[in-house]
Amino acid sequence: MRPEEQPASPSLPWRTSSVFTMAAVGLLSRGFLYGLSRTETHGLDGFLKLLDERKDVEGRQRGLVTVSNHVSVLDDPMIWGTLPIRYLFNPDNLRWGLGSYDLCFTNKVLSTFFNLGQVLPTHRSLHSRFGGLFQPTVAQAIRLLSQGPFYSNDSATKANKSFKSPDLSDPFTNGHLTFSTNGTDTFPSPSAYLSRRHSWVHIFPEGKVHQQEDHTMRYFKWGVSRLILESEPCPDVVPMWIEGPQEVMHESREFPRFLPRPLRDVSITFGEKLDVEKVFGDLRARWKRLHQRDVGSGPEGKPEMGVLSSALKYADEAVELRKECTMLIRNAVLNVRRQRGWPDEDPKGGLVETYREEGARKTEGQMKDGSWIKDT
Ligand SMILES: *[C@@H]1O[C@H](CO)[C@@H](O)[C@H](O)[C@H]1NC(C)=O
Ligand SMILES: *[C@@H]1O[C@H](CO)[C@@H](O)[C@H](O)[C@H]1NC(C)=O
Ligand SMILES: *[C@@H]1O[C@H](CO)[C@@H](O)[C@H](O)[C@H]1NC(C)=O
Repeated sequence: MRPEEQPASPSLPWRTSSVFTMAAVGLLSRGFLYGLSRTETHGLDGFLKLLDERKDVEGRQRGLVTVSNHVSVLDDPMIWGTLPIRYLFNPDNLRWGLGSYDLCFTNKVLSTFFNLGQVLPTHRSLHSRFGGLFQPTVAQAIRLLSQGPFYSNDSATKANKSFKSPDLSDPFTNGHLTFSTNGTDTFPSPSAYLSRRHSWVHIFPEGKVHQQEDHTMRYFKWGVSRLILESEPCPDVVPMWIEGPQEVMHESREFPRFLPRPLRDVSITFGEKLDVEKVFGDLRARWKRLHQRDVGSGPEGKPEMGVLSSALKYADEAVELRKECTMLIRNAVLNVRRQRGWPDEDPKGGLVETYREEGARKTEGQMKDGSWIKDT
């Protein structure tokens, strides 16, 4: 659709509620980090400069992907409490996250809260047959990061001045203003609005909380590579390293488990923005060639952004590109980890095989290697 056919932004009540939700959570996080913990940041100034450049939505040239290790159930939202207060009131310049469908979207109240808090409903393969890296939510994330237009044929969604925003998951299925994660549920489609162009998406590619004495990471799932390979143009990428929240919410904690522990050291490091042309340019060019070949041979029209043919999902070359891309992203996070003074990890740490045995039997609690896993 042409830009002028896209609704500019969600309704005023929705935007107001979202500002309120994001700010309340942000202020609580900030209060906890600077009132009840000993918190230090590294590289924050550079990151804030990037956010400042992105403040004007119209002027943005590209999306932003931040990617980090995942050490506690409270990482998100806690880590965003490091942003100064004035940033916390501007959801258009704050992150979209991916939250577990089976934890965050189980009822109307939670679902509304997380929608307003810019969290996308994400199915986990372990818990749902709708999970995996081709679920509709990943397409939403790709569109959020992109410039648009997203749809090849959109006569259904022509601009309509009196159009009513389907904010609160009304069963309202006009055009692309809502989307479904499982074929029957309905969520407001965040990427439908112009104000969401070139958004910021944060992702924890480990997919679950990993608490390990030596601060190693699990292998990265490949969803993150779709965000980098398929978003148009290539988003900025900022790798991050998180330490300390595992002490705030250690998986071995006892009663009261839901209470974050105060007076711990927390350290949040924002790495340098990657030179995405240099790091991902070649992979993206290969992906484009693959995509063009596939689209050229398809039945009709251009596919919707973020929707792939089965060839593009499963062909060896497509899989290979995702693997390589994911490894580059993991290395970028490892670089930030190294800056924090941690010695290089055992190279096996990045491989799926290392975790296969564990995954087959036990999904939470303490693993044989001493690490603590929380399946969120
Ligand atoms: C585009 O939409 C129109 C009207 O809904 C429909 O008649 C036409 O077949 C569609 N074209 C494609 C390529 O899907
Ligand atoms: C515009 O939206 C209103 C309310 O959603 C609807 O009643 C009306 O039919 C729409 N007009 C067009 C031309 O689609
Ligand atoms: C989709 O999710 C909704 C809400 O969780 C649920 O009621 C519905 O049964 C699900 N549909 C399928 C096909 O699983």
